[in-house]
Amino acid sequence: MTTAAAAPAPRPPAGPAVPADPPELAAEDLRRWQRSGGELIDLLHMAHALGPVSLLRLGSNPTVLLTDPAGIQHVLALNPDRYPKRSHRARALLGDGVLTAGGELWKRQRRLLQSHFTGQGIRRFTSVMHDAARQLATRWSHSADSGQTRDITADMRFYALDVIWRTLTGHGATADTLRVLGALDVILTALPLLPPPDGHQPDLGVHLATIHGIVDAAIAEARATPDPPGGPALLHSLIHAADDQAWPGNLIRDEVMTLLVAGQETTANTLVWLHLLLGRHPEERTRALAAGPAGSDGRNRAFQALVSETLRLYPVAWLLPRHATEDDVVAGHRVRAGTTVLACPYLTHRDPAVWPEPDRFLPHRFTTGHHRPTQPGAYYPFGLGPRACLGAQFALREATILLEHLLPSYAAVPDTPPTDAAFGITVSPATTVHATITRLPHASPTEGR
Ligand code: HEM
Repeated sequence: MTTAAAAPAPRPPAGPAVPADPPELAAEDLRRWQRSGGELIDLLHMAHALGPVSLLRLGSNPTVLLTDPAGIQHVLALNPDRYPKRSHRARALLGDGVLTAGGELWKRQRRLLQSHFTGQGIRRFTSVMHDAARQLATRWSHSADSGQTRDITADMRFYALDVIWRTLTGHGATADTLRVLGALDVILTALPLLPPPDGHQPDLGVHLATIHGIVDAAIAEARATPDPPGGPALLHSLIHAADDQAWPGNLIRDEVMTLLVAGQETTANTLVWLHLLLGRHPEERTRALAAGPAGSDGRNRAFQALVSETLRLYPVAWLLPRHATEDDVVAGHRVRAGTTVLACPYLTHRDPAVWPEPDRFLPHRFTTGHHRPTQPGAYYPFGLGPRACLGAQFALREATILLEHLLPSYAAVPDTPPTDAAFGITVSPATTVHATITRLPHASPTEGR
């Protein structure tokens, strides 16, 4: 018996397969989230469950949530011109400073500031970091003696602001100046997390006017005084550049505001998280101190690893929005022109498909390489590519210098119960963190003062 040969199936046309749209969050899930009044992070968790590239329809524009390392590398590092920042949420606060500007104006500012924020440039600022850290260590010493609880959130804000103010002006700020500048925090909280679709900017009102008053006074003072003996402070350099290059209108003020905002909240929150994590894992402090004597490479590397692992678990700038200007394919999925792309280091850093044991605090990932993925785009607390953080080296130095002054002598034991994360413009502990400061047994009462 013979069987008739089946007719061959028609072949699909040759050529590359058309990539599919990313999996889309169901409208019903979106509605449920809206009804529940949940936070943006809850929605992003739901979308992320669909895969490392997912689609949500939040407003009129489609939004793609991206956590895939290769996709992150593609968007942020390899094709930044096709994915610019658009209508930055902080423009109302920062004007045309380097964080918010685009095009030529951004390039000019970035080039100028880059030299101050890398290599030799940073070394100039380490003495102001030590001065600020020493002052805080003195306060901790008094609290250790008196047994008084400290507000760690306020301490870390004060330290980060003090460092950036000293860097800018060459001298410490008065308590009053720091109090007024502290209102930057209130303003940041009022800013929308994602770029408003209608371009509407919030009214930042009276706080902003007061802060501008202080910044303008500092600029006028720097203009009126010669460069300090140790070389010009950053503000003097900005003024020289503005005069040489005929910077437009309020650009010096915008730049100062940018550095105050970008440099304070981020570093301060990182340091608060670090103290909370050390409170939960005191053995990691012991391990870091045992890595070598004060000032040794071993100890520096261990302190840096504490900061890096803190930034993996809590990348304070947790959501980096971009605008797709062309149709593209990202990590195998179609992304259409006009899409908002949300790069989310928080979700990438906690994805078990990328990081082994992602929820554990394991600083040794960054000293031994164990438990650490090697692919680009797996770790980006400072962003990637040309718009990556200008202050990354500065921030790491400032954080490790504070640890050098505090960790050998004091333990901050948080009195605050474990706290949730609040996902605002940065990710911060949802409640203020208080701690009791204890002097470590081997530290003399004068150590750290
Ligand atoms: C732990 C502390 C910090 C973290 C985690 C952090 C994180 C980031 C991230 C993720 C970006 C890129 C944003 C994007 O791609 O949309 C960024 C940009 C920026 N950061 Fe930081 N930052 C920190 C500290 C600082 C400090 C101390 C300064 C300055 C003193 C600073 C100045 C800037 C500036 C100026 C930009 C904009 C760069 C540009 O667009 O060219 N940052 N930061």
